[in-house]
Amino acid sequence: MTQTVLLAAALLNASPTFAETKIPNTTQMLMKQKLVAAHGLLEGIVRNDFDALKENADLLKSISKASTWHKSDSEIFMSYARSFQNAADFLVTNALAKNQEGVALGYVRVTLECMQCHNHVRDL
Ligand code: HEC
Repeated sequence: MTQTVLLAAALLNASPTFAETKIPNTTQMLMKQKLVAAHGLLEGIVRNDFDALKENADLLKSISKASTWHKSDSEIFMSYARSFQNAADFLVTNALAKNQEGVALGYVRVTLECMQCHNHVRDL
């Protein structure tokens, strides 16, 4: 929770210049935060905690947006990023509706999007 708030604060303060000049480290840091947020999603699922699900899905979407700035030249990468953000939105919508099956499906969709983008990146 504290970590989530700190990350959100860090994202709000992050200037594009910083992201552009420290690309590799920033991307790795953001991906590690994605892992933490994804874990938060699983915790939300098993605890039936819709607030935690919404919070972590929102966070994942923000992280995804922050980590795609420097990849904007690749159309395919951007389409993976958009699919990921759509899956996060789907999860948020279902968390707000307190739809238990919907959030479970959203969790699976988000996780598949992680895997698919990583497969794409590895193939480059
Ligand atoms: C749109 C593309 C995309 C999506 C979606 C995506 N990632 Fe990544 N991920 C990357 C890229 C690119 C790297 C490689 C970063 C590097 O090492 O340069 C990466 C690397 C990582 C790493 C390794 C970081 C390290 O320390 O080397 C982790 C962990 C990770 N991602 C977690 C996740 C999780 C969890 C999700 C889903 C919740 C996710 N990613 C979704 C693009 C994506």
